[in-house]
Amino acid sequence: MSVNRIIKNVKIATPLGKSARKGKEMSEIHFVEKGLIVIVNGIIEYAGEEKDCPATLLALHEYEYTDAGGRLAIPGFVDSHTHLIFGGFRPDEFSWRLKGESYMSIMERGGGIQSTVNATRSASEEEITSKTSWLVGRMIEMGVTTVEAKSGYGLNRDAEKMQLEAIRALQQDEKTPLNVVATFLGAHAVPQEYKGRTAEYVDYIIRELLPEFKGLAKFCDVFCEKNVFELEDSRRLLEAAREMGYKLKLHADEIVTLGGGELAGDLRAVSADHLLHVSEEGIRKMAEAGVVATLLPLTAFALKEPFAPARKFIEAGAAVALATDLNPGSCFSGSIPLSIALACIHMGMTIEETLTALTLNGAAALDLADKIGSIEAGKQADIAILEFDNLNYLPYYVGMNCVRTTIHRGKIVYESSNPFQSSQD
Ligand code: NIG
Ligand code: FE
Repeated sequence: MSVNRIIKNVKIATPLGKSARKGKEMSEIHFVEKGLIVIVNGIIEYAGEEKDCPATLLALHEYEYTDAGGRLAIPGFVDSHTHLIFGGFRPDEFSWRLKGESYMSIMERGGGIQSTVNATRSASEEEITSKTSWLVGRMIEMGVTTVEAKSGYGLNRDAEKMQLEAIRALQQDEKTPLNVVATFLGAHAVPQEYKGRTAEYVDYIIRELLPEFKGLAKFCDVFCEKNVFELEDSRRLLEAAREMGYKLKLHADEIVTLGGGELAGDLRAVSADHLLHVSEEGIRKMAEAGVVATLLPLTAFALKEPFAPARKFIEAGAAVALATDLNPGSCFSGSIPLSIALACIHMGMTIEETLTALTLNGAAALDLADKIGSIEAGKQADIAILEFDNLNYLPYYVGMNCVRTTIHRGKIVYESSNPFQSSQD
């Protein structure tokens, strides 16, 4: 449905551009004090000072009006790394980790990802999609207007296909009004049937799954990790995927320093994600090759691991994105507010860098920076209006949602029930 809308009485804070903001550029936020946003057909036609808006544009169409009451509009958040299609839950594992067990030791004894694979294979499509819609609904309330979703809990043809089809259905479902990007993660773990035969499983993915899923997924991803898919298998898989036209992502250097950052640089992947234990060389190679470093503070927090070296990436001139990693195991949280707080308080990122990382650079991590991720003419009208008039509230309201209105393609898809009438109350 096409929407023409004018958002008036609005402040704006946004990064600008059609590509990732790198290094120092990440803190360059464009501010508008007395702004106006004009949306035609779901696309931003004008965003800037009200006084500078051409009168002809206002006369050209009929509009719906939204009065922002002096509040701050920012680009809708882009959550560029999630695993939100899955059967079952794993709260017991969380309690085991609290008692000292490690994420990898649980995985090695058949729990972890394999346990969600078992639950996903035996779940009905209905169970899975209704859970996903619920999770996505909560994200929209937090201002998310684009989400990436990975497969990776099927690990065979039928179950991976079911996950990818569920992602496509999500994209088309009116009840989940946001942009959805699909990633094929058949190499998330070596399934039980292939235990001890990792290379054969990679051959199977290359031969049978990659060609079949080409129309269903934009990206191919791999859990590049010690004792999962190590460098050689990851490289072989990703090179084959690239040949077939997939864009590349990696789960890299999450648990140990393996050289995933370096591999991402060599392959010129669109993004490498996690990077808690990335080496200096990995940082350098990623910065040089323009690979987006997607950092996932909620996972580090939930696994009680050190946070990824955001400052080192920024100082090396790399583009940093932030995402939630929402999944049933390592990180059962899709909290944008907590991600912001952790990035600012524990990773040393400035509020401006954090905004860029969750908007334009998230879009770049999905190869969509030319279409979304900023409030400027020509971009899709995906916007979050905050309860407040100032960017500093984002981390200050620690772990709490301060989004008042979420707008997707010009349409209001969420409004909070905050009784405060004005940002000055
Ligand atoms: O990004 N580490 C690999 N994949 C996910 C976790 C998946 C799971 O535990 O179910 C991650 O952390
Ligand atoms: Fe992940």
